[in-house]
Amino acid sequence: MIYILTIEMISIASECEETLFNLGAQSLVFEAESSLMKAYFSYPPNLEVLKKKIQVEILSIETIREEDWLKHNRDSFQPILIGQHFRVLPTWKDGETEDQRWNIRLNPGLAFGTGGHETTRLCAHFLEKITQEFKIDSVLDVGCGTGLLALISSLLGVPKVVAMDHDPNCENCIRELLEDNQHLNPKPDFRYFIGSLDDPRIGEGYDCIVANILLETINELLPDLVRHLNPGGHLIVSGIPSSRTDEAAIDLTLHGLQLQSILTEGSWVALHARLH
Ligand SMILES: C[S@@+](CC[C@H](N)C(=O)[O-])C[C@H]1O[C@@H](n2cnc3c(N)ncnc32)[C@H](O)[C@@H]1O
Repeated sequence: MIYILTIEMISIASECEETLFNLGAQSLVFEAESSLMKAYFSYPPNLEVLKKKIQVEILSIETIREEDWLKHNRDSFQPILIGQHFRVLPTWKDGETEDQRWNIRLNPGLAFGTGGHETTRLCAHFLEKITQEFKIDSVLDVGCGTGLLALISSLLGVPKVVAMDHDPNCENCIRELLEDNQHLNPKPDFRYFIGSLDDPRIGEGYDCIVANILLETINELLPDLVRHLNPGGHLIVSGIPSSRTDEAAIDLTLHGLQLQSILTEGSWVALHARLH
């Protein structure tokens, strides 16, 4: 069952988005030219917590069958340009395009990460930039969702890529994404698992870690993220509303990282930092 919560936003939109994602919303849809937003959950959202965190008017909460939600998602999925090199296309659409972009085929399921959200695109931009400027032999995608950022890393030539998420829904999505994109020849050393950052399957240190999660979660995970970085390694974080950029930059600095640059799209930012 999927729960659709419709709210009228009184707090600013990025605060509402962040709180709803924190509560477990799988996707959010803004109604054009209004302050209405729909949030989709796979379990009943905690409205008490929601009302404590942000100012909203709760207009309705409805349920639909998971199959209907997936169908709706698929019907409304349009090609999305990511970074300078990629386009995400629904698996069932013709991939013939005239430009030089790589067409990544994706079947939207229950995991986050079609490229439709600013934060995914910001991380992809940083992955393109960093792999162009530095020799990156390994990438860890923490909170990989569909695995799109991990696949992009592999297509950018990173020889070893590991994707992980704690949500079991992601496993099928990553497997499918890999199967549907074999024709793009991702590097063979591409692994994924469902678990935590303590999992031994993570293995050795990484030249680059990308974590598009939420600021609160990133803060909790920062000691582990730093532990898994090689000296001089690169950390890309997003899931951060632009209003909280300073807070995120300070958190990175407090964990021994040196801020390199910040990218913004809409009301979201991504930060790139390096370990001393
Ligand atoms: C905003 S989505 C990002 C998905 C994808 N990386 C992208 O950029 O499109 C955040 C993902 O982080 C996962 N996540 C949240 N907390 C986590 C944790 N502590 N450990 C691992 N994954 C986590 C969620 O399940 C979700 O799939």
